[in-house]
Amino acid sequence: MRFVIPARLSRALAGASQHGLHLAPSLHALAARPLFAWSTLARSLPACSLLACSMLACSSAPVTSAAPPAALTTPDVSAATEAGHATSSPLPEAAPAPRPPDAARGGRLYDSWRTERKLSSTISFDAASTPELDGKGGPNGNGTLNDGSGRPLPNTGHDYRLRSFFGWDLRGKQGLSGPDYQGESHVLERNLLADERSAEELRAWLASGDEQLPAYGEVLNAQDLDDLTAFLVQSREGKLARPEQVFQLDTKAPGNYRLRDGADPERGAELFTFVCSDCHGNDGRKLPFDAGHTLGTFARARGYEAWFKIQNGLAGSPMKGQIVAQSGADAAQTVLDLLAALCDRKQFPGRDFVGVQDVPDGDPRCGKYLK
Ligand code: HEC
Repeated sequence: MRFVIPARLSRALAGASQHGLHLAPSLHALAARPLFAWSTLARSLPACSLLACSMLACSSAPVTSAAPPAALTTPDVSAATEAGHATSSPLPEAAPAPRPPDAARGGRLYDSWRTERKLSSTISFDAASTPELDGKGGPNGNGTLNDGSGRPLPNTGHDYRLRSFFGWDLRGKQGLSGPDYQGESHVLERNLLADERSAEELRAWLASGDEQLPAYGEVLNAQDLDDLTAFLVQSREGKLARPEQVFQLDTKAPGNYRLRDGADPERGAELFTFVCSDCHGNDGRKLPFDAGHTLGTFARARGYEAWFKIQNGLAGSPMKGQIVAQSGADAAQTVLDLLAALCDRKQFPGRDFVGVQDVPDGDPRCGKYLK
């Protein structure tokens, strides 16, 4: 059994820095990528010091970790190739993949490939509000991507995000974004969690698009496509937490979902302290969020999105995927526990000033965990 507790590690490293030690950049990188790999919280941690355990785990990670371990040690290859393909056609596939696919990074690309790949300064999307194709950059130089037949696909507000086409829960029209629930306008028919195509077929489809899907191979490289494919395949195979293990759809609830029963909010609170609080503060108010949200108000109002980001990280941000679990069921339990803990309005309050309205008493989104 192996425990990796970089939040602790990061404190230890911070202490080391204060004492004038120069730390290797890879250790800083590790500290910025907290992970946990336990099915029950490590109440009985091994006797060795946490720092020593973590370092040990670090060196053995590629052998033992169930999740893509190379994320810890391999630099992001996309940066090196970024400049080359904003305006060019499909990339050469010759170079061998330098690391195994990283499904969490695939999830971040699914959410927003442009942000994750830091291409926002190179591609500004065609404006959804005008009929002309008036963006900049990309394969056509006008901020569009092509469809599967090579015709420019206008941006009608989807911003070419897979998340817009299939929803946070990957289910397309059958899921949270579909007409029975949130009814988003760009969502496509296909349910990616029930997709039976092979990994190779999925990857080829992502690369070349179809009538409605952009040909992502024009802007993403081989590693990106591998990561995206790994994300889709591992999600449907239940190797990552599946959305229905964390929340259930509900036409009547605001946001159309509610957290499932079966959480352990105390364990969630402990995990939060170990893994999240260094960055987010003990009460989840340290980092500014969109629209004046705190981590608490965000997680209570948009739990499905919090699930996605806790698992995969936030595109383009220092927050990487937070979960390394033995199985998708373990991962789901961990996310559910965390979200249940974040449903405590006293412990994880909103802002005292402006900010968004917190969920009211009796709000169903937190399931039975609203406090
Ligand atoms: C390495 C630092 C770091 C760690 C560790 C971390 N986060 Fe984050 N998190 C961030 C940053 C930075 C953001 C972006 C905040 C912003 O929008 O400006 C963020 C954003 C988020 C968001 C909102 C994303 C959005 O769409 O705005 C959620 C939800 C979240 N974190 C949850 C968690 C939880 C739960 C944990 C622990 C399991 C955690 N984070 C651990 C740094 C971290």
